[in-house]
Amino acid sequence: MVNVLMFTDPGIDDSFAIMYALLNPKINLVGIVSGYGNTPKEISVRNTVYLLNLGGREDIPIVAGAAGPISGEPVRFYPEIHGKEGLGPLKPPDDIKNVKVYDFNKILEIITQYRGNIVIVSIGRLTELALMFILYGNDALKDVSAFYIMGGAFLVPGNITAEAEANFYVDAIAANSVMEKAHKVYLFPLNITNRAIITPEVINFLSENSPTPFRPLIKPAFDYYFHAYQKNVPGIKGAPLHDVVPLMSLIDPDLVKFISRRVRVEEFGTAKGKSIADFRPKPDPEPIDSMEHIGMEADYQKFVVQFMEVFLRRSE
Ligand code: BDR
Ligand code: CA
Repeated sequence: MVNVLMFTDPGIDDSFAIMYALLNPKINLVGIVSGYGNTPKEISVRNTVYLLNLGGREDIPIVAGAAGPISGEPVRFYPEIHGKEGLGPLKPPDDIKNVKVYDFNKILEIITQYRGNIVIVSIGRLTELALMFILYGNDALKDVSAFYIMGGAFLVPGNITAEAEANFYVDAIAANSVMEKAHKVYLFPLNITNRAIITPEVINFLSENSPTPFRPLIKPAFDYYFHAYQKNVPGIKGAPLHDVVPLMSLIDPDLVKFISRRVRVEEFGTAKGKSIADFRPKPDPEPIDSMEHIGMEADYQKFVVQFMEVFLRRSE
């Protein structure tokens, strides 16, 4: 069982990732940091509260993350992809149980509690992780065993600009700082997550057969997200659930194949958010400690099978 602290911005694929983490018996979710990203911070926190309510896991601490990027630039949200309330057409009911939402200091407390046996899975903007280094120094996250991060696009088109992926773009300063300061980083860029596609057929089957408390959410949330993808990527057969990939790779180390390179993120200008790594046949030598592990290939059939298994699993 792996102890996981998630940094997220639900959002539809984030919600699937949270549900996946709650349902997978090999994952012990020890906290969720919910910040701005796909939606404003308040909506992101409320959606996390709702998902934990539905799952009967109000014991998992929720931390309120950042409201915007380090640069102070205004933030744009994505209702056309994730819905006005971040869950497609759905809105959490008004009577969801109120839970305590912690402030930022709680993050360090959780990391200390699970020191040496805790993986950070980051599937939103990287502002909060960068803030950890700003607030507590470069050693702040030394007790974290590894970082599994959804972000970046290497030598392939971006999804928010021609060259940049959304999690890297929106706070490019934070993304670059995390690449520089965090150790044991496993990256899950669009190169692979764009192909981690779940089809409407799979979703229809799960929405009829999933024995989990999340069953009513599965279809309406997915359909909304899929329709947005159909508009943006004509001919697409399903929707990529980007944020599920790092969690699944953590549990099944054979799912994704990595290439180790030093990664930097362009912070400013027209190429803001661009992922940079040296893929020349003879790259400039870099110390091994400064390298990130970039996911470049994945077993997509296995992705679908394991996704279904988790959503069809009866809890003991
Ligand atoms: C990433 O950006 C967000 O919109 C998704 O939730 C995912 O984390 C994909 O670029
Ligand atoms: Ca996300």
